[in-house]
Amino acid sequence: MDAVKVGLLGLGTVGTGTATVLTRNAEEIQSRVGRAIEISRAASRSITEQTVLNPSTTKLTTDLFDVVNDPEVDIVVELIGGDTLAKDLVMKAIENGKHVVTANKALIAVHGPEIMKAAAEQGVNVCYEAAVAGGIPIIKAIREGLAANKIQWIAGIINGTGNFILTEMRDKGSDFADVLKEAQELGYAEADPTFDVEGIDAAHKLTILASLAFGIELQFEKTYTEGISKITTEDMKYAEELGYRIKHLGITRKTDKGIELRVHPTLIPEKRLIANVDGVMNAVLVQGDAVGPTLYYGAGAGAEPTASAVVADIIDTVRTMDAPLNHKVPLLGFQNNAMRDTPILDIEEVETAYYLRMIAQDKPGVLAEVSDTFAKNSISIEAVLQKEPASGESSVHLIMLTQKCIESSVNQAIKAVEDLASVKGDVVRIRVEHLG
Ligand code: HSE
Repeated sequence: MDAVKVGLLGLGTVGTGTATVLTRNAEEIQSRVGRAIEISRAASRSITEQTVLNPSTTKLTTDLFDVVNDPEVDIVVELIGGDTLAKDLVMKAIENGKHVVTANKALIAVHGPEIMKAAAEQGVNVCYEAAVAGGIPIIKAIREGLAANKIQWIAGIINGTGNFILTEMRDKGSDFADVLKEAQELGYAEADPTFDVEGIDAAHKLTILASLAFGIELQFEKTYTEGISKITTEDMKYAEELGYRIKHLGITRKTDKGIELRVHPTLIPEKRLIANVDGVMNAVLVQGDAVGPTLYYGAGAGAEPTASAVVADIIDTVRTMDAPLNHKVPLLGFQNNAMRDTPILDIEEVETAYYLRMIAQDKPGVLAEVSDTFAKNSISIEAVLQKEPASGESSVHLIMLTQKCIESSVNQAIKAVEDLASVKGDVVRIRVEHLG
């Protein structure tokens, strides 16, 4: 049988990693698939000398459209990133009847509905395992391994850069800005770190997970996103005193009212396994009604971990490329005609617990006044921590953990507390999830 022909778009870190893994493990892969897989064409906007691809079998080009228009290519692997040129290339590849494998979470989260529709019309695969949590096979786990379950919720550390920064802040007591600089020097954070530290990258990934878990359309624009740039080492220390760690989580949960879809810093009990996932590593916790909690851990980025997912998608595609559509796993895990229009909840409607820190005057009656204000807004306090004033100071840090309540109520309560004469400045608020 002829080799399957792959066209590679992009020869950066992941493109080079993909070529390396496909070449190094060619024999192993052929034994699993029953056919050889060959990169027949590869494109990069600037071709520098590289040793991974064999020029006798791979034609190199600087025109990315050469790959998607090449009649020989069966599978186009998109690894250039971004969601403009990448979208044009992927749509053209689909129009030309080619299967697509991509590591591009922004592309899937933002343009997924259009891409999936075009792919369904053409009867081609669009695979995107590498788009979420790099090398962790979380798409396959949710779409296939957990297919018997009603998924109840997912909580994930799905951005390695942010997790590295929070881990370093906790371990070294360094400020966010200093650790961000260190992360940039180490090559973990981009020169413009906005996507990673403000949660946009995680929101792209969470959008995809929610769609797979609950059979809903990809709805990136409805994901609530809050970054980690305002987290202080002070709050990390207080959280630890209360038995929690601060992690940047993507959380999606099905409730009676709709689906929560949110990325934000979160206190989680330190005894949870996921609270101990440190550095650049990723982890995703999935709760199914039959299986209970399941945890997936691994490298969320990097050349070969990401290539591991890309190549697995190529293998899956080769195994099923000649099968009729109804013999394939649906691209988003649910049959097209069974997709649901469950509403996505606004953050104001979300129910969770809160860590609140405020600076209050150190005099009798202040704690009672603050507690009373929360009570009037129907907020129940779970725990209180009061720190001694520094010598010569008359203000104390007052830390409160609330029980679960609706976000709009906590917002009202915070406003009322900030209006008290005995409370100075803004109340710091971090959401708390027990993940039990
Ligand atoms: N920038 C991402 C992260 C890796 O830091 O996890 C690619 O998704």
